[in-house]
Amino acid sequence: MLTDSWQLGPLTVPNRVVLAPLAGIGTWFVRLQAKRHGAGLATSEMVSSFAIHYRNEKTITELLRVHPDERTVSDAPTSLQLFGQDPEIMKSAAAYVREHVEGVDVIDLNMGCPVPKVCKTGAGAALLKDHDTAVKVARAAAEGSGLPVTVKLRSGQRPGETDGYELAKRLVEEAGVAAIAFHPRSAQVHHKGTPDYALAARLVEELPAPVMLSGGLHDAERARRAYELTGAAAIMLARGSLGNPWLFQQLLGLRDDEPTTAEILRELEWLMDRAVEHLGPERGGRWLRKAYPWYVDRLGGGKALQAAMQQAATVEQARETLYAAV
Ligand SMILES: Cc1cc2nc3c(=O)[nH]c(=O)nc-3n(C[C@H](O)[C@H](O)[C@H](O)COP(=O)(O)O)c2cc1C
Repeated sequence: MLTDSWQLGPLTVPNRVVLAPLAGIGTWFVRLQAKRHGAGLATSEMVSSFAIHYRNEKTITELLRVHPDERTVSDAPTSLQLFGQDPEIMKSAAAYVREHVEGVDVIDLNMGCPVPKVCKTGAGAALLKDHDTAVKVARAAAEGSGLPVTVKLRSGQRPGETDGYELAKRLVEEAGVAAIAFHPRSAQVHHKGTPDYALAARLVEELPAPVMLSGGLHDAERARRAYELTGAAAIMLARGSLGNPWLFQQLLGLRDDEPTTAEILRELEWLMDRAVEHLGPERGGRWLRKAYPWYVDRLGGGKALQAAMQQAATVEQARETLYAAV
């Protein structure tokens, strides 16, 4: 059952519906939102191990921010996703997190990011072809942080390749990785196409550690089917949860119906307030431009309303534009 707890190393995860890492999105307030709606574990956006090692200010003060409410809202753990290909730098970044960031329970490592800027340094999906380094990086993250380490990876770099599947086994056996988050699409297709759930099912069968499934979990029906098909320990919501935190509740049997207009507006208001709290009115307003379409879509609003909100000079003006239209 999706509502059953499971073990991630020494941690008990209270249920099997978790939030995926989402770059530029998975701030403390998006994680908190997911947890408010029931998520059993919430992962941060990816953070550069080099940026932590060299104490990049924005990285330290913004990306590494964990809000105290993330702890009190539920007993769901918080996972911080790091990326990087240098074991020493990874160890140093993980040690910084252990010493200076309260509220991180798990370190997740990104070995699936297809973005050229990341891959050309040898990080992200490049590690799918460099298993020795990948194992060293995972060991270093565990040594530095003293926390359970998970790795999120893809099936391979190109369609048909299964390097990720092979690497997952080495990571568990040789680096003691506590769980694998598996996105069974190749890096080359980015987020398009049908995930290879049969390959995920094989990994679940063979891996002596839990597998969290990622990919194509865009609504409750598809997510339930993929969960059953693969036998994964947990399912990881990504794009399906954007502007739709109620998907966590639906999958956990906490509600069947779709959110009302009032609920959607309340949730968007909550997000607007949190974005401003985190980044201030100006940068918060810019952050929110990506989020408006998710909620306006749910409200049945069209592209014109989305664009008007995105073009608003202030968050207040975006709010007025919204209320004038709904
Ligand atoms: C905007 C966006 C940002 C993402 N950022 C990350 C990231 O930082 N780290 C990561 O491992 N995966 C990242 N992913 C991949 C997702 O976690 C997930 O594996 C992928 O979207 C497939 O799931 P879906 O088809 O249910 O959306 C990102 C995906 C999207 C769409």
